[in-house]
Amino acid sequence: MRPFDGRRILLGVSGGIASYKSAWLARLLAQAGAEVDVVLTRGALEFIGAITFEALTGRPVHSDVFARGHALDHIRLPREASAIVIAPATADLMARAAHGRADDLLTACLLAAGDPRTSGKGVLFVPAMNDQMWSHPQTRANAARLREIGYMLLDPEEGMLAAGEGSGPGRMPEPATIFAHVGRLLEPQGELARRRVVVTAGGTREAIDPVRFLSNRSTGKMGVAIAAAAWRRGADVILIAGPVEVDIPAGVSHVAVESTEQMAAAVLHHLSSADALIMAAAPADYTSAVRIDEKMKRTTSSLQLDLAPTTDILRDTVSARRNGAVIVGFALETNDVLSEGRRKRASKDLDLIVVNDAREAGAGFGTDTNRVTLIARDGSEESLPLMQKTELADIILDRVEARLGAA
Ligand code: CTP
Repeated sequence: MRPFDGRRILLGVSGGIASYKSAWLARLLAQAGAEVDVVLTRGALEFIGAITFEALTGRPVHSDVFARGHALDHIRLPREASAIVIAPATADLMARAAHGRADDLLTACLLAAGDPRTSGKGVLFVPAMNDQMWSHPQTRANAARLREIGYMLLDPEEGMLAAGEGSGPGRMPEPATIFAHVGRLLEPQGELARRRVVVTAGGTREAIDPVRFLSNRSTGKMGVAIAAAAWRRGADVILIAGPVEVDIPAGVSHVAVESTEQMAAAVLHHLSSADALIMAAAPADYTSAVRIDEKMKRTTSSLQLDLAPTTDILRDTVSARRNGAVIVGFALETNDVLSEGRRKRASKDLDLIVVNDAREAGAGFGTDTNRVTLIARDGSEESLPLMQKTELADIILDRVEARLGAA
């Protein structure tokens, strides 16, 4: 099952240089399972051809409100869509939409989609334009009006503008970022909506000297997948991560840490306002007992490192947890996997522990998949088949939502 299977998305493209990025967005949406109906303005057709979108979406592309045989497209297209995304939204498109014009197919679709506050159909505008046009009071007023009407606007980013125009605010966010926001529009908002979720990810690094460190093979994939899925479900997500090998997902607040002590401090800082804590990180359990400020020289004799234990972050949070907060831990084991999982769940006072066997193929560090058993506070155990970490993230969050709902 892909995240957007069974969803129809109306992708409106207006005429700006950023419309070349919309082709990639159409592809991401289609690959995620969505049926994408592309509506191009006259301006967009100057920048990019309809055939590009037809090939990427496998569906007819629309642009003419008066096309023969398509008299009711402006009613049908928004009615069939679960969400509407306009990327890029030019200054002109924003002005027309803010004033309720219906002078082309795309603006007619926007009106026919109904009141965004009651239609249950999210509409996302992704403005992109020259920085002077973006900061012009007319555009600011139009942006404010669009928000007032109930549309979502994704602010443009700072960065390189069209050739020779230097850099400034006005650049369209990358397709992957827009894609994540579309996910949040489409996801039915349940118990996690507007809840605060703290997720940890990745391994930590314990310095031996200024250039060397102790760490482990964690890549952060599991924690990052959970953070992205929680954000899609409408949560405010704080992702406290050691160095990770995957991109930080759009929308989440990222707190970058290096050592276990830094991770512990960040978790404690954010815990008091958290409705859920999901400790998917693999914090290093030992740190160098002595501080060495200069690079150690290589010698021919053997070397002994004196190590001291780090804080057990989960255990240290027990007294600081908010009443009703749902706490999830992980356990990666090589021996007595389930009994170790049960022991850790109890000793760290967890609502749920996700246990996996490090020696099983496709499970553990670095892979895109995992095979786990979930052990809950009430003693129930659920053994799950091998699956993508992104799928597992959703199952873990289903369990978190069930607990939040029951509290
Ligand atoms: N954990 C933690 N603080 C640490 C180490 C681990 O909070 N210093 C968390 C992990 O994020 C995970 C859970 O505790 O959610 C279990 O991690 P694991 O390394 O399996 O547990 P340990 O208590 O370190 O036990 P072990 O002796 O098996 O390493």
